[in-house]
Amino acid sequence: MLITGLSGSNGLEVGLSRVVNKELLPIEMKLFPDGESYIRFVKDVRGEDLIIIQSLYPNQDKKFFELLLAVDTAKDLGCRRVITIIPYLAYARQDKRFLDGEAISIKTLLKTLSFIGVDYLITIDIHKEESLKFFNGNSMNLDPTKLYVSKLYGVVKNPVVVAPDQGALDKAVKLSKLLLNSTYVVFRKFRDRVTGSIRHEVVDVDVSGRDVIIVDDIISTGGTVANIASYLREKGASNIYVVCSHGLFVGEALSKIYSSGVSRVYSLNTVPLPVGVEPIDITPLLTEAILSLNLT
Ligand code: R5P
Repeated sequence: MLITGLSGSNGLEVGLSRVVNKELLPIEMKLFPDGESYIRFVKDVRGEDLIIIQSLYPNQDKKFFELLLAVDTAKDLGCRRVITIIPYLAYARQDKRFLDGEAISIKTLLKTLSFIGVDYLITIDIHKEESLKFFNGNSMNLDPTKLYVSKLYGVVKNPVVVAPDQGALDKAVKLSKLLLNSTYVVFRKFRDRVTGSIRHEVVDVDVSGRDVIIVDDIISTGGTVANIASYLREKGASNIYVVCSHGLFVGEALSKIYSSGVSRVYSLNTVPLPVGVEPIDITPLLTEAILSLNLT
């Protein structure tokens, strides 16, 4: 078995190859002057099981195409099985036709990965697990709750875990179960599909003098978290912590979040993170997943 990382791997392949004791495969990568991607395998991969790590942010489309080049070439060169680890699977939020005529982007992405021959797909906390039905092969969606707990345990006291929308409810329930003496609450979020603006339904929650953890899968513009955090601050919450799986932090997202009264922000390192966000390393989660595949 060989492990390699493309331009969106965030260097995860280095630690992983050490921990699972498998060879790191170097890949030559460059851009042509006009911006087209080039990749070349510099070692024979015939008959090998190959793990390719590529997260799809930033520059989702570029990173995706690079992944297609790598998978297709690996298959062409005679790899036995190709396992792709995509810590952040972009396009997962466009999982249905919200407005007539829209693309179901995650379907297109996963159909393409199936078509070029990905044998196994591993991702972390995909926006909706049922989207994996569009992938025609084996897949694993890794649950990061244990990693969240390893960071938050001992930091937060008697917290209220907050799901900022229905989609985050499961996450809040799981997190609250693993944190002692915690409760959870869920808000309803309404998003205008045309303008993208959001509003939350008011929930009469007693957070006075208590720590709060807002948990979500993705933070993009920060609007969802900032909206809820301001409200909870007004209701007298003590410390407000935010934990997410994929911290994209577009534009001023992070300063918006801190201005809303948040004390600390944690994110898995599925994508590159800005200063001001405490990273949670996904290496242990990926190690467990790789070992469970029993590759040779
Ligand atoms: C959407 O349902 C997701 O789970 C997140 O709540 C959303 O992507 C957050 O976006 P933003 O940070 O732009 O509010």
